[in-house]
Amino acid sequence: MEKFDIKDAKQAEGGRRRIVWAEREMPVLRTIMERFEKERPLKGLRLSACLHVTAETGNLMRTLQAGGADVVLVASNPLSTQDDVAASLVTHDEIPVFAIKGEDNATYYKHINAGLDHKPHMTMDDGADLVSEIHKNRRDLLETIVGGTEETTTGVIRLKAMAADKMLEFPVIAVNDAMTKHFFDNRYGTGQSTIDGVIRATNILLAGKTFVVAGYGWCGRGLADRARGMGANVVVTEVNPMVALEAVMDGFRVMPMAEAVKIGDIFVTVTGDINVLDKHHFENMKDGAIVANSGHFNVEINIPALEKMSKEKRLVRPFVDEYLLSDGRSIHILGEGRLINLASAEGHPASVMDMSFANQALAAEYMAKNADKLGKQVYSVPEEIDREIARIKLDAMGVKIDKLTAEQEKYLNSWEEGTV
Ligand SMILES: NC(=O)c1ccc[n+]([C@@H]2O[C@H](COP(=O)([O-])OP(=O)(O)OC[C@H]3O[C@@H](n4cnc5c(N)ncnc54)[C@H](O)[C@@H]3O)[C@@H](O)[C@H]2O)c1
Repeated sequence: MEKFDIKDAKQAEGGRRRIVWAEREMPVLRTIMERFEKERPLKGLRLSACLHVTAETGNLMRTLQAGGADVVLVASNPLSTQDDVAASLVTHDEIPVFAIKGEDNATYYKHINAGLDHKPHMTMDDGADLVSEIHKNRRDLLETIVGGTEETTTGVIRLKAMAADKMLEFPVIAVNDAMTKHFFDNRYGTGQSTIDGVIRATNILLAGKTFVVAGYGWCGRGLADRARGMGANVVVTEVNPMVALEAVMDGFRVMPMAEAVKIGDIFVTVTGDINVLDKHHFENMKDGAIVANSGHFNVEINIPALEKMSKEKRLVRPFVDEYLLSDGRSIHILGEGRLINLASAEGHPASVMDMSFANQALAAEYMAKNADKLGKQVYSVPEEIDREIARIKLDAMGVKIDKLTAEQEKYLNSWEEGTV
């Protein structure tokens, strides 16, 4: 087995500087790392992680290692790897990394399998590709695996579908379901970093543009809010009436995508769904429309259909493909339709990843201690862990809050007192 597969080990110093810079904004994970160094709760555990290889992930890997885990890291997306971070983890921390930004599909799966050759006791996924590969092609590994953790909405949906079909062979903790994850990471993190990705790729002015957000879930809410803050006219498309109503009451125009395509300048999909932008949408888009995705998989935009409709495709800037249609219009696809905040920008800011990855570290510790008591299901992060993370984060931010008095606690738990 190769020891690692990265772009260039000479980039290690730059990677280290970025890991240290991110760490400044990750006080919760730092607190956990200090405890892990003393208690070594993951001692002797082989852990294969399939995550976006970013500076923040670098800090998570170092935390798991401090806890005694023997870790391997592979990319969870072909375009999201920060090659300098991969170099630093290999060089400075002796953590094997298999990830190269821009790797093709065959290399991506070769790397997933290299991560699995580590014969993990525990998996840590972002999109469930490790779990899926183990269940489809590496079932020999099931014997030693005690459990896993999952980072994102799409992964959790895949795992819950597996568990419902009784196909899941080990317990997995849905880190995404923790309040201190999706409430902050999906909303504030995806919101800001998706705008960052669109701007870095295109350098366009958002003010005055019609910005269409497909999906008003946790990510979509954050994105719509931030696009509005930049002066864009934001349109939301949804399929869930309750969520659509919320978008209307939040002050956004809501309409079907078939209508939105006629007026939109910029489109971002964040639904976790397939073909949200399809052939009939491209047929009615304005000339020059800019289209990106921030949902987990690159299936939200039907790029193969667009390719068929186009007579020419050319790269006009890094991460911007122009598709020239036979009627003379052009449509721009950013970052090959992959998560744009990771493709052309740097992913979520460290401050929100602090909480997401604190959940990952504590979920791994919980799994190490409790795996034998868990069934082959998807579990939520225990509420005490969620609250503890919020408490440490507030502490680190220097924010103090009130405590219930004994009288208030009694009042809130009683039914006797009503109108006075
Ligand atoms: N870019 C990132 O860094 C990042 C971070 C977190 C999550 N994600 C991914 O983003 C996606 C969304 O995550 P979320 O937490 O917001 O999920 P969510 O379930 O909270 O929201 C998704 C929303 O999309 C809507 N939707 C589904 N199909 C639709 C369609 N055809 N048209 C319009 N709306 C539709 C749903 O009704 C729902 O309200 C997932 O794939 C998730 O894995 C990406």
